[in-house]
Amino acid sequence: MKAAVYRRFGGPDVVHVEHIADLEPKADELLIRVHASTVSAADHRSRSRDIPAGLAIPSALVLGFFRPRRPVLGMDAAGIVEKTGDDIQGFAPGDEVAVMLGSRFGGHAEYALVKATDAVVHKPRGLRFNAAASLIFGGITAQAYLNQATVQADTSILVNGASGAVGSAFVQIASAVGAHVTAVCSRSNHALVTDLGAQRTIDYRTHDFTEDGTTYDVIVDCVGNAPVARVADSVRRGGAVLLVAADLRSLIHAKRDARRHGISVITGPGPYRAADLQHVMYLAEVGDIRPVIDRTYPLDDIAQAHRYVDTGRKRGSVVIQVAQAIQTIPPSATGESATTAAVSNRR
Ligand SMILES: NC(=O)c1ccc[n+]([C@@H]2O[C@H](COP(=O)([O-])OP(=O)(O)OC[C@H]3O[C@@H](n4cnc5c(N)ncnc54)[C@H](OP(=O)(O)O)[C@@H]3O)[C@@H](O)[C@H]2O)c1
Repeated sequence: MKAAVYRRFGGPDVVHVEHIADLEPKADELLIRVHASTVSAADHRSRSRDIPAGLAIPSALVLGFFRPRRPVLGMDAAGIVEKTGDDIQGFAPGDEVAVMLGSRFGGHAEYALVKATDAVVHKPRGLRFNAAASLIFGGITAQAYLNQATVQADTSILVNGASGAVGSAFVQIASAVGAHVTAVCSRSNHALVTDLGAQRTIDYRTHDFTEDGTTYDVIVDCVGNAPVARVADSVRRGGAVLLVAADLRSLIHAKRDARRHGISVITGPGPYRAADLQHVMYLAEVGDIRPVIDRTYPLDDIAQAHRYVDTGRKRGSVVIQVAQAIQTIPPSATGESATTAAVSNRR
């Protein structure tokens, strides 16, 4: 099968497309034909070893010390079940699915193996593969963090890094429950995040949100520059800081910081769960969240996609189209809104 492979760490050009051995599902696995995946911030970090301070050794245990342990990147995939192992229940060949492969990776290939215990769900028929793929990484991460905090109608939540894959999912999921969302990102992305539901926007280049005296119930850091030490005075007592991007020091001090400031500090998404992905797909199906696709590349242009993601400036997701989706739905029911279309390929 065709796959985007990297056999050493480095820049975007270490990734190239080649033919590798076909996959065969074990009893507890599904084989899916991948239609779409994304190049995520995690793919960038894994490939380039651009790892937050102090986390190089723990991450090498997963990614490999001298060379990549898993040569095919891609944490997410939307596709069609090709084959099921003998113990698989609830999925059959021909089913359209969305899956978070997480640190087992493998989405940047024609086929991917999915374990029954992975976060794998049926994809809503009305959502295109590209649209579904674009929502998996950010959506499941945001939902997994939100499960650990109280975010409901009138909760005030600040999302730092609101225009990326994870940040845009936080903005939308929190807005969908009626929270008051403040989005921190570049000015050029303010229209986007407002359209996604943010009620207030802050340009981090001209305004430091920790210096204006405003306090929030929840602060989410999707950038890695808003540890508790910086934002503690901006969080109300009883509130929470969700550290999506953080260095080792922030993670080590999380419990102490939480006690000291009377807040919760959430340091990880926990295991990725099918129920969370199911919820994200449901929100997309009913129109409460929508895909934000910055650019779409064919698998053959994978290095270009990595190069773009390396800028750190992507808006929402960069989609890799692996197979040409069979068009089973009318264009009006694609799940890609006018906003998405406008966002796509704008740059
Ligand atoms: N803990 C976990 O399990 C987990 C899971 C998923 C992701 N992550 C991490 O979460 C982070 C975000 O992921 P992502 O997929 O959303 O990345 P992304 O799509 O690349 O988005 C990052 C966003 O941050 C914004 N940004 C850059 N500098 C900023 C600054 N100084 N202040 C505020 N915003 C800034 C950028 O927006 P502008 O262009 O508007 O500046 C960009 O859109 C990554 O570090 C990733 O590794 C962690």
